[in-house]
Amino acid sequence: MAENVFVSRHPLVLDRLTSLRDRATPTPAFRKLVHDLAQFLFVEAASDLELTTTQVTTPITTCGGHRLKGSIGLVPILRAGLGMAESILEMMPDAQVWHLGLCRDHRTLQPIAYYNKLNEQSKLDVVFVVDPMLATGGSAIAAIDELKKWGMGRIKFLGLIAAPEGVAAMQRQHPDVPLHLGVVDSHLNEVGYIVPGLGDAGDRQFGTRTE
Ligand code: PRP
Ligand code: URA
Repeated sequence: MAENVFVSRHPLVLDRLTSLRDRATPTPAFRKLVHDLAQFLFVEAASDLELTTTQVTTPITTCGGHRLKGSIGLVPILRAGLGMAESILEMMPDAQVWHLGLCRDHRTLQPIAYYNKLNEQSKLDVVFVVDPMLATGGSAIAAIDELKKWGMGRIKFLGLIAAPEGVAAMQRQHPDVPLHLGVVDSHLNEVGYIVPGLGDAGDRQFGTRTE
């Protein structure tokens, strides 16, 4: 694996991923798993955020302390990235959230952009693009193209399950963007789903599975 691809080996991540994959996991439990996994991966992905030093007065005395430096943003790719962003926001309540709406054309697998709130004010020091699935990589690449166009600072991608095809495509198009992943699976099937994967992350999170 390339040096900026970080695949978690944390036992809690491995345990929760197994439940996430399970077809018998109902929607409310699935959402809770996405919530927990997003927080575990975020803690790992945020380990190199910059700090400033400060002083803090405890009930006993004054000592040195630290504060996070710079502006931090979350960019959920709609709709499946929403659950991840909401859970990370619990840990980072001051983060800005900039939504990007992208969905795959089921025939061509190309991303279709349908919502974009980015503007001149959306420049941030570090942004975390969040989406549970990195399949062909088309959606993540399109999202990051857009963020770079608006002059965002450092960009990191957080995903729960990736296909090797998506990881390779991201490495080709955006080699500067580190990938923080729960797991890299075997391959994509003939209709662009990750194998073994978990099925459709959006449908499973929002209870819209129809088959
Ligand atoms: C899923 C997923 C990613 C994308 C990954 O979204 O959440 O955004 O597919 O596939 P790719 O790497 O081949 O682009 P989908 O298009 O199903 O939309 P949804 O989140 O609204 O369900
Ligand atoms: N999007 C999903 O939700 N699941 C996949 O396996 C691939 C893309």
